[in-house]
Amino acid sequence: MKILTLESTCDETAAAVVTDRLEVLGSVVASQDDLHGRFGGVVPEIASRAHLERIVPVIDETLRRAGVSLREIDAVAVATTPGLAGSLLVGLAAAKAIAVALDVPLLAVNHLQAHIYACRIASGEDVFPCIGLIISGGHTSLYRCRDPLDFELLGATIDDAAGEAFDKVASMLGLPYPGGPSIQRAAASGNPHAYALPRPFLQDREKLDFSFSGLKTAVRYLLVGPGRQDFHRLQLDPRQVADVAASFQEAVVDCLVDKAVLAVHRTSVAKLCVGGGVAANARFRQRIEEEASGQGIRLYVAPLKLCTDNAVMGAIAVERFKAGLFEPLDLDVQPGVVRKTG
Ligand code: KG4
Ligand code: ZN
Repeated sequence: MKILTLESTCDETAAAVVTDRLEVLGSVVASQDDLHGRFGGVVPEIASRAHLERIVPVIDETLRRAGVSLREIDAVAVATTPGLAGSLLVGLAAAKAIAVALDVPLLAVNHLQAHIYACRIASGEDVFPCIGLIISGGHTSLYRCRDPLDFELLGATIDDAAGEAFDKVASMLGLPYPGGPSIQRAAASGNPHAYALPRPFLQDREKLDFSFSGLKTAVRYLLVGPGRQDFHRLQLDPRQVADVAASFQEAVVDCLVDKAVLAVHRTSVAKLCVGGGVAANARFRQRIEEEASGQGIRLYVAPLKLCTDNAVMGAIAVERFKAGLFEPLDLDVQPGVVRKTG
C-alpha cells in the first residue's frame, strides 16, 4: 500500500510517498528560508502564498522520484494541526482534491505526533510508550506518548519556543536565518561559560514547563542594555559573537535536557524520543546522549534529515489507516495545539 503524505504546517512545502511497511519511496522538501530570511522569522502570509505556488510541483517531483504514478496512490495524508492557518489550508485543500479525484481515503496527521514518529521510522523499533520531546521553531513540548496516536501534554513552553529563541538571538547577533544552525556554527569556537545566562525553571522540580523569552531578553541586555533596539549598530567582534552564541546554546540545552530527564523519572516511562528542528543541534544531541546513557534511558533522537519539517514523518498516517481513522471531506485545520489525543 502506498500513501502520499503532505506537509505545509509552517514554511516547508513537503511531500512523500511511503508504504505501510514504512518504506520511503520518495520525499521532497521545498524550504522557504530564502523568502523569510530577511525578516528574521516566518511571515505567515508569505508562507501560505509560497505553499500555493509550490505544492503541485513538489507533489509531481515526489511522485517522479518515487517512480509512482498518482493512480497508484492508495490514500492521501496531510498535516492538519498545529501550524499556521493559511499554510495548513493549502496542504489540506490539495489533499482533499487528490482524495476526491482518486477516490481514496483522506488521513489527518498531527504534526507534533509526526515529529516523534520520525524516531519510530528511523529506528525501525517500536518506540512506544515513550516520553516525547518536541523542540522546534513553533513548539517546545513534553508529551507522554502511550502509543503513536495517544499523546498527553505534560509540559510546554509558556512563551517562546526553543527554536524561536535561537532564531531571535541569532538575529540580535547579526547571524543569518534560520538561527539554530547559525548559532551552532558560531558557538563551535565559543566558550559556553563566558556569560552567566539564566536557566528558567531549572530549579523548579515540580514543573515540566519551559520558558525562553527571559533568556532571550538576558542576551539582549548583555548586548545593548535595557531599552535600546539598535542591534544593527553593534560592533561585536567574532570572539564575542562566538561566546554569546555558546553561552546561550548551553543555557537552552541545559533546560531541554533537564526537563526531558525529569519527565522520564516522573512517569517511569523508560524511553525518550526527541524530534523537531532543534533536535538537529549538535550540542543538544551530545548532551542528551550522555545524560540518557548515564541514567539508563533508552534514547531515540530523530536523524538530522527528519528533525526539521518533512513529509516522511507523515508516515504516522499508516497507523491511522490501520485503525480505520479516515476523515470526512469537510475536515478542517486546527492551528492550535491539541493537549490530549487518542
Ligand atoms: O521543526 P522545524 O523545521 O519547524 C517547526 O515545526 O517549527 O524547526 C525549525 C527550527 C528553527 O527555529 C531553527 O532555527 C531550528 O529549528 N533549528 C536548530 C538547528 N537546526 C534547526 N536549532 C538549533 N540548532 C540547530 N542545528
Ligand atoms: Zn515541525
